[in-house]
Amino acid sequence: MKTILEQLTEKFEAAFAACGYDAKFGKVGLSNRPDLCEYQCNGAMAAAKQYKKAPFLIADEVVAKVPDDGTFSMVESVKPGFINLKVSPAFLDRFVNAMAAEEALGVEKEAEPKTVIVDYGGANVAKPLHVGHLRPALIGESIKRICRFMGNHVIGDVHLGDWGLQMGLVIEGLRDRKPDLVYFDEAYTGEYPKEAPFTIAELEEIYPAASLRSKSDEEFARRAHEATYKLQNGDPACRALWQHIMHVSVADLEKNYRNLNVQFDLWNGESTVQDRIPGMLAEFEQSGVAYESQGALVIDVAEPEDAKEIPPCIVRKQDGASLYATSDLATILEREELYHPKQYVYITDKRQDMYFVQIFRAARKAGLVPEEVRLDHIGHGTMNGKDGKPFKTRDGGVMRLENLISMVSDAVLGKIEESHKNQGDSQIPEAEARETARKVGLAALQYGDLSNQAYKDYVFDLERFASFEGNTGPYILYTIVRIKSILNKYAETGLDVNDYCDEIRDMGSESEKALKLEMAKIVETMDSAYQELAPHKICAYIYDLSNAFNRFYHENKIMAEEDKRKQASYIRLIELTKRALLLCTDLLGMECPERM
Ligand code: ARG
Repeated sequence: MKTILEQLTEKFEAAFAACGYDAKFGKVGLSNRPDLCEYQCNGAMAAAKQYKKAPFLIADEVVAKVPDDGTFSMVESVKPGFINLKVSPAFLDRFVNAMAAEEALGVEKEAEPKTVIVDYGGANVAKPLHVGHLRPALIGESIKRICRFMGNHVIGDVHLGDWGLQMGLVIEGLRDRKPDLVYFDEAYTGEYPKEAPFTIAELEEIYPAASLRSKSDEEFARRAHEATYKLQNGDPACRALWQHIMHVSVADLEKNYRNLNVQFDLWNGESTVQDRIPGMLAEFEQSGVAYESQGALVIDVAEPEDAKEIPPCIVRKQDGASLYATSDLATILEREELYHPKQYVYITDKRQDMYFVQIFRAARKAGLVPEEVRLDHIGHGTMNGKDGKPFKTRDGGVMRLENLISMVSDAVLGKIEESHKNQGDSQIPEAEARETARKVGLAALQYGDLSNQAYKDYVFDLERFASFEGNTGPYILYTIVRIKSILNKYAETGLDVNDYCDEIRDMGSESEKALKLEMAKIVETMDSAYQELAPHKICAYIYDLSNAFNRFYHENKIMAEEDKRKQASYIRLIELTKRALLLCTDLLGMECPERM
């Protein structure tokens, strides 16, 4: 559907043109004086410069040319040359009813659906998920859902870090704990056991201990490097242990991501593409795109117009080992072959910004991706503690994601019990309260994160995030639950809206109109959230929409309304509000309980 802004702009473009001015001045925007008007057109101000004429004269002329077709209830030119606008209730009702008639609420889907790869998560095998993994998971999941909702074929890939030194560290850590395992018997030639020789709990002890030890124990570090080298060169014992590490670790990662409501289509990783690397590098050398520099193989990616220096992309080290970048390039090669994506979206910490500039340029230069393919990297900021430094546990350690999630849902649980008491039903069953706290707690984290522009750092504030009031996830869910409860009550009366009112109508209240105006913005909101890969725009929309609903709710009777026609129109209106909120919260990965 055309947005309201587009429709109004068309009318003003025609009016400017009819007065002999350039149509481009007809752009209509949202009002920045909501006390005076709903929309505004400031084109006369700009046209005044071009036509050397007083802006209010132009505004007056244009206003006179706007056709009286029922679109506006107010078209007013005000000095020095602004045009203030209000739309008519009938026009607005046509718009919201058209929204209601469409599954996607009037949002225009992608005209040419395409395959999109969303590379997010980025967990490293053998290391537990910690708070640093929260942001890429939440942002990536939301971007994946937005792109999918817009009609694309979207593939989410976790792109595990599963091929690096951490593997050698775990292998050597394990050797010291359990030297008698067959994997460490050089004379052993039989099959290796199917059962992993460690549990996830052990694995989680082994890695940090080994990592710490490698920093002070040179001999141990050397062994870990050697084990990594052997693994990467196909040593059967190291491969067998690697398989076990993968199995145990990935099962745990899956569980953790599930708790975040994050689902990947592919569980690939750096290891997936290792076989492609030798051939890819040989081709790079042959085509001349890569060259030897101080024993390493590099691709120059600097461009003359660069404001700062972009170093070459190293694809093979002096010692012959491949790197993070090599895996990423080989992964593009594989994705091109298997999926032909038209767009790639990577979500990582913004400290990798420069790295992705190098990767994207190298991929284009080497001809790995066709020119029209869009390559996006979303670099995100850090979740900080109140001290402004990256969030830590109380004793200064790295907080595990699981612990963060349970901390938030515990905080929410108390509030849910309290809220039920306030509503006079203290009878919420324990299991339901816990399940609700899980959803609401997760929403607190999701919304607390996604409502910020991805690039910015933000402060994790448990009190604020978990509050049922203000710009928070729980507030949004509370609003939806409130609507659900009214709709349930209406259903219980046995009334049917169809008997009283066939569409949403204008019942004349100001808060009702304000709610419709907010609702209508979903069309442009979704479009820009999609184009800019910006979930925070959806958060801003649902916050405004929730506020508009709550104002409407407080200023109008719904269940107590005696005029059945009016009541039915209100029920239709809040039903549509619920649909808009649920659609948006789903795109943020949030789940809504039945009651709170
Ligand atoms: N494992 C990486 C890290 O911990 C993130 C992976 C991101 N994706 C990618 N294709 N490089 O930094």
